[in-house]
Amino acid sequence: MSKKVIYSGIQPSGSLTLGNYIGALSNFAQFQEEFDCLYCIVDMHAITVEQEPAKLRQNALQLLALYLAAGLDPKKSIVYIQSHVPEHAQLEWVLNTITYMGQLNRMTQFKDKSKNRGDNIPVGLFTYPVLMAADILLFQTDYVPVGEDQKQHLEFTRDIAERFNNRYSDTFVVPEVYLPKVGARIMSLQNPEAKMSKSDSDPNASIFLLDPPAVIKKKIKRAVTDSIGEMAYSDEQLGLRNLIDIYSAITGETTDEIVEKYKGQGYGQFKEDLGEFVANKLSPLQERYNEYLQNKELLEEIYRDGAQRASAIAQKTLRKVYKKVGFLPR
Ligand code: TYM
Repeated sequence: MSKKVIYSGIQPSGSLTLGNYIGALSNFAQFQEEFDCLYCIVDMHAITVEQEPAKLRQNALQLLALYLAAGLDPKKSIVYIQSHVPEHAQLEWVLNTITYMGQLNRMTQFKDKSKNRGDNIPVGLFTYPVLMAADILLFQTDYVPVGEDQKQHLEFTRDIAERFNNRYSDTFVVPEVYLPKVGARIMSLQNPEAKMSKSDSDPNASIFLLDPPAVIKKKIKRAVTDSIGEMAYSDEQLGLRNLIDIYSAITGETTDEIVEKYKGQGYGQFKEDLGEFVANKLSPLQERYNEYLQNKELLEEIYRDGAQRASAIAQKTLRKVYKKVGFLPR
């Protein structure tokens, strides 16, 4: 129990993008030796926007297969499904009572997702960050590897942890966000001012992890750049900068090295190479994913075992919390 704890989660709400991979998933496996890791499939978060039930079940299994394909080892890490561990919802309720509406009103993700909905904004969308705080705090997490879009939710989580600790005495570890050095915010290939997102209506805007190689190469070739035509990593060339970030995250080369390599060449060769690198990176992932997906029994075994191990830890934290707030033990 002396190891530090890493916790992260991804919503099973559709096909994962290259943004999810670079910003989060591709970083998960490396922590498994040094840390106690928990990786969750957050289906309870996914239903804050409407989901088709059969599809949600399928997406959860697919995400588990993807976790394994990305190198998560269920012997080293706890890999589980959020709805299998009821303590998430139980802790969320307690945290709801110390959360201020003003804080939740300031969350940019909430503002984005509730736009154009008038009075019909689901309360779950509003309290989404409280459930996320519960996820993280249940496991006494030290570090949370996520993309930049989750940073605000992490600040909120820290705030709630501190408020609880101040009111009821030390209970929760106050977690820290862990952002990747490159690729914390991968942008849309069609609009470099917008984040690459699962829900983008333009299929050319995102590379999906399960896209075939030819599609990946085509999307990169069509990616919006600029008319300057000179390789540079600059604020004036946001489209290009995003592609350089992707290149850097996939190959490990620095952005300077990449700019130097393609200087004076225009963007053609650069895009072609990048398409090749991304496709080559994702092909083995896709193969492993397809193998895992065919083995339903193994997947079930893994998520059942994960739920049990996660529950054991979560119950301990929840018992402590219930005692501190003054609930009578049964
Ligand atoms: P979700 O499912 O939207 O995204 C999963 C992860 O992918 C990252 N990400 C990106 N990174 C870089 N560039 C992008 N364009 C990009 N798009 C997405 C996200 O930052 C995230 O790390 N609320 C979370 C899920 C969650 C969670 C948690 C995470 C629920 N409970 C507890 C950590 C700990 C979410 O919606 O992720």
